[in-house]
Amino acid sequence: MGEPVRFPDVAVYTGFNQTVRAETDVRDLEITQGAIPDAFAGTLYRVGPDPRYPAHLGDDEWTNGDGHVVMFRFEDGHVDLKTRYVRTERFLLEEKARKSLFGRYRNTYTNDPSVAGASNGTANTNVIWHGGKLLALKEDSLPIELDPDTLATKASWNYDGRMTARCMTAHPKLDTSTGELLSFSFQARGDGTTDFAYWVIDKHGKITHETWFQAPYPGWVHDFAITEEHVVFPMTPMITDLEVLKKGGPFYQYHPDKEYHFAVMPRHGTAADVRWFRGPSGSAGHMVNAFTEGTKVHLDICLAEGVAVLPFIPKVDGTFCDPVPPQITRLTFDMKGNSDRYTKHLLVRRPGEMPQTDPRYQGRPYRHAYFLALGPVGLDGAGLAHVDLTTSKEEVWDCGKGTTLHEPQFVPRRTDAAEGDGWIVVIHDRRPEGHANLLIFDAQRVAAGPVATIRLPMRVRCTFHGMWVPESALRTMEPQHA
Ligand SMILES: [Fe+2]
Repeated sequence: MGEPVRFPDVAVYTGFNQTVRAETDVRDLEITQGAIPDAFAGTLYRVGPDPRYPAHLGDDEWTNGDGHVVMFRFEDGHVDLKTRYVRTERFLLEEKARKSLFGRYRNTYTNDPSVAGASNGTANTNVIWHGGKLLALKEDSLPIELDPDTLATKASWNYDGRMTARCMTAHPKLDTSTGELLSFSFQARGDGTTDFAYWVIDKHGKITHETWFQAPYPGWVHDFAITEEHVVFPMTPMITDLEVLKKGGPFYQYHPDKEYHFAVMPRHGTAADVRWFRGPSGSAGHMVNAFTEGTKVHLDICLAEGVAVLPFIPKVDGTFCDPVPPQITRLTFDMKGNSDRYTKHLLVRRPGEMPQTDPRYQGRPYRHAYFLALGPVGLDGAGLAHVDLTTSKEEVWDCGKGTTLHEPQFVPRRTDAAEGDGWIVVIHDRRPEGHANLLIFDAQRVAAGPVATIRLPMRVRCTFHGMWVPESALRTMEPQHA
């Protein structure tokens, strides 16, 4: 007899983290409030971790679940739902064995010997449409192509053999004016290495520029930012130590004694063009935006100073940081100055994460930012926040106690609409009621509440990131929103 499947009573599998595990198709979701705006035609793709099996070590890290894609297709005032697991190599091996075979987050030394050499990737972090392909992403492995209509898993994608790094970030940046995707890889030649790769990929999915350089330490580089002239890579002092991994330890340890490093380089630069800037130890999950102004590069970042922004990442001494919620902060790098220090000022006092902008303004001077307003710790009671950076006016819609919001996503009203003229779509997990809603807000009036509420018959455990793809972009290779 095989082992029965039973999730242990630990935080990573209970409360908002309770798994869903089901793959769902619902034609015509119920619209319980308001109406879907007339111009809505396209597909919202989201992905997050939903563990198929309980970790064989008993406990796990929240980020270690199997990638579960959630797709909302909007057509003529209707919306259809489809959810599917990504059939990663790992998923298929565990499905066959009917149990978890992969161990602690990214620590291959804790895997079952039967899966030695298999990819650890879960494809659970982002799903994007680019170059005529729908790609599920996880920063420890290469993209995995999915069918954009059925969500069936196709294969791992290495850009026709041109991508020789062993992994690609889950946070590439789309330049909607050119259709280019700018992307990178950290620990690009193996766990604990300092090899760093950067690519420009044209709108057809062809790599047109590639640069390799060395990072100061094998740290975490989850997200980055682009401007019209530069790219900025934040090298977080959450560092991988192979010796710690061999002893079954965590993939990252936060080093309070090590400085935060930022690499700034021209968009088509080489290793020789990299400018390094340094500042106090700290960390950040996500970047809001960046832009170049004369000789200065501004980076707006959800900065948590002096701590690991992910509270489950231990310090190098084995203790944990007291939580410090991230705040949107502008770092400025002077490209003509001689200093390797950057300047810093707080843009938004209200703590927040999971930031978004109008995607047409990524890399450009911008006015509107959206984010999840956080409570003192964690996401419970989060609100959807909009800040007008020109007037500093903030609006927040409180999602209510006992519920939580996923990352908001901006949908422009029309391709030629002004910045910020559009909608915010966001999944609202209503755990006490055992289901979720998809909410649509007028992006200029978020405090007024949703203009439409679309009811899902089940919960969605968690989605990290995703993309809105207009119907026209899904049928062509043209850059969306351009
Ligand atoms: Fe992320």
